[in-house]
Amino acid sequence: MRLDKLISDSAALTRKEAAASIRAGQAAINGTTVREPDRKVEPGTDSVVFRGAPIVWRRFVYAMLHKPAGYVSATDDRSLPYVLELFPPEYRKRGLFPVGRLDRDTTGLLIMTDDGQTAHRALSPRRHVTKVYSFTCLSPLPPEAEKAFADGMTIGDEVCLPAILTPAPDRLSGTVTLTEGKYHQIKRMFERLGNKIVSLKRESFAGIPLDPSLAPGEWRELTSEETETLLTAAGTDKPE
Ligand code: URA
Repeated sequence: MRLDKLISDSAALTRKEAAASIRAGQAAINGTTVREPDRKVEPGTDSVVFRGAPIVWRRFVYAMLHKPAGYVSATDDRSLPYVLELFPPEYRKRGLFPVGRLDRDTTGLLIMTDDGQTAHRALSPRRHVTKVYSFTCLSPLPPEAEKAFADGMTIGDEVCLPAILTPAPDRLSGTVTLTEGKYHQIKRMFERLGNKIVSLKRESFAGIPLDPSLAPGEWRELTSEETETLLTAAGTDKPE
């Protein structure tokens, strides 16, 4: 990989800015200052220091966002706020995208990555990756609601995989656990029961809980344990 590309991929700099900084003597490879932007480096093997700090090269980035209401789960939108706007330029530049979609009014955990294979696999209904949502609804859930979810509900002409409904004692709130992600799935399941979702928040994905210290709109990278959990759930080999 070219030195200017490695630096611009890892820092909030354009390729041109990275090249200019390299020419100005701000980069070193294995302890020696290098002034050629096109110098080849072996990411992960060569040690690169830029402006006095080591460059840590990662093949992929995995992050968790506390999605706020009002944002679309997209990397771009002409008229609506979109989740990628909440990330700084060096992450946007990497091509981060959301792993699946939450509705515009749904809040909570959205995993963002630039690892297409893992995202694709984590979303496949065949892998049964669990997603837990907390909800509030308009009317108290009837006693037969749990069984209707567990049996695999039919919504429109689609048959859902068995899901777990765990109402709170008030039966106006609780959690739903899904292993798939059909369009507006939970809202449509509640409508099928003659009910209506009032609020919906994703609490966990693949067993990774939303970090309670993240306010809506905040994000952080996944820890190495969380990344491992995601890759295992998706059946992706660990990247070197
Ligand atoms: N089900 C829905 O209806 N909406 C979401 O955002 C997620 C699951």
